[in-house]
Amino acid sequence: MHNDKKTVEFEEILDKINLENPAPAGEPERQYYYIKKARQYVKEKSQELGRKLTACPQTFGCQMNFRDSEKITGILELIGYEVIDSEEADFVIYNTCTVRENANLKVYGHLGKLKGLRKKNPYMMIALCGCMMQESHVVEKIKKSYSFVNLIFGTHNIYKFPELLVTALESQRMVIDIWKDTDQIVEDLPAERKYDFKSGVNIMFGCNNFCSYCIVPYVRGRERSRTPEAIIDEIKRLVADGVVEVMLLGQNVNSYGKNLEEPISFARLLQEIEKVEGLERIRFMTSHPKDLSDELIEVMANSKKVCKHLHLPVQSGSTEILKKMNRRYTKEQYLNLVEKIKTAVPDISLTTDIIVGFPGETEEDFQETLDVVRKVRYDSAFTFIYSKRSGTPAAVMENQVPDDVVKDRFDRLLKEVQSIATEVCAVHEGTVQPVLVEQINHQDAALVTGRLSNNLLVHFRGGADLIGKIVDVKLTECKGFYYIGELI
Ligand code: 5AD
Ligand code: SF4
Repeated sequence: MHNDKKTVEFEEILDKINLENPAPAGEPERQYYYIKKARQYVKEKSQELGRKLTACPQTFGCQMNFRDSEKITGILELIGYEVIDSEEADFVIYNTCTVRENANLKVYGHLGKLKGLRKKNPYMMIALCGCMMQESHVVEKIKKSYSFVNLIFGTHNIYKFPELLVTALESQRMVIDIWKDTDQIVEDLPAERKYDFKSGVNIMFGCNNFCSYCIVPYVRGRERSRTPEAIIDEIKRLVADGVVEVMLLGQNVNSYGKNLEEPISFARLLQEIEKVEGLERIRFMTSHPKDLSDELIEVMANSKKVCKHLHLPVQSGSTEILKKMNRRYTKEQYLNLVEKIKTAVPDISLTTDIIVGFPGETEEDFQETLDVVRKVRYDSAFTFIYSKRSGTPAAVMENQVPDDVVKDRFDRLLKEVQSIATEVCAVHEGTVQPVLVEQINHQDAALVTGRLSNNLLVHFRGGADLIGKIVDVKLTECKGFYYIGELI
């Protein structure tokens, strides 16, 4: 694991803090103060027990949550916890997701198991954060049924984690701090990266789109963009620390920068990021079709660093359903957009998200979705069964589709998506492509696994010295969704 900012820099900051003084009001200085304070508590406890305290952050959901967890991990390490993968730890933190009901159920399942573990370890602390905590009925349920939880916070005050942890360490009761929304973006807190050579970079937070099925705008708040300066600064620091690939993260990156004091488009931001020397690859997600500009298509076509991959969620192929979903494009507009992209960037790989069983979806509507899948020919598609999220407009729509009908459509969709994807993926067979080597192969230690610009994986003979490097690989055989290759 690697630090975004040099550990010594943080140590210098912490050295200068005097805990006899009251906590500073400004951020992030206030959190540095609490990191130092938490460090004292952890040190005392660790001396008492005669061992290091352990912490286990667990992440559910999307790439945004994974990036947030890297921030939590960075703070935990600075405080002095040994970060481990097992929930038999002194401190377990669940960073939760609520986009579909399944995600919620998983968290309750884990909490149930922790009840037992906690009996074995009386020092164990449990914290819950992330999207699920932004829903009041969830917090009520935890208060009632899982009263052993020590700390609950949400998505808007994650930067306050050190302060909240100190409050929880000093309190015998459940500490809860949930904000409805925020316009604040706090920079410059530590983060601990999972990979040395690639990193997610938040460029914006929140979503203003209110697709009628989606809970995200309610739990992640309104759109806020980071300034280009802050983003480029972070990327330069990452590159100096060995990163060659960044994934720019936002719920709707195409509307990046619109609300900044000095507005700037996402395409312009990409051009600025491209100038960072030493950075080799730029990825981004997610794009909303309604906001994808010609300017962006042009930048993608001409860029050397922006990867030839576009994740473009369609959600449904039926104009009628798209309207009810509040997606603000028609089937034809989506298909035209795809045509435009394919013409400008012929080797682009397209992926998507599709929901089946949205309220009122008929067999005809579903056929329209299959038609889009056949016309676009996606490299892969994430397919979801519609999940009713309370508080969203779709939850109270009439004509909810019966489970068995949805399941049948889901199976048919998956079959279609998979058979097309296998064909689409195979088109690169025999070519030589640049590959970023990510890790030793899980099944065969004589192989390494790398990623193509278009996001497909390739396994080939090689050793750990290749990890983090971009090398040319001949794609000798397509195995459906991945390749077997040879280092050139
Ligand atoms: N039910 C099913 N899928 C959903 N998604 C978002 N909300 C729901 C829901 N209520 C899917 C969308 C989105 C992806 C991240 O999750 O397809 O693009
Ligand atoms: Fe949800 Fe739509 Fe926003 Fe995506 S764009 S996060 S689907 S509301």
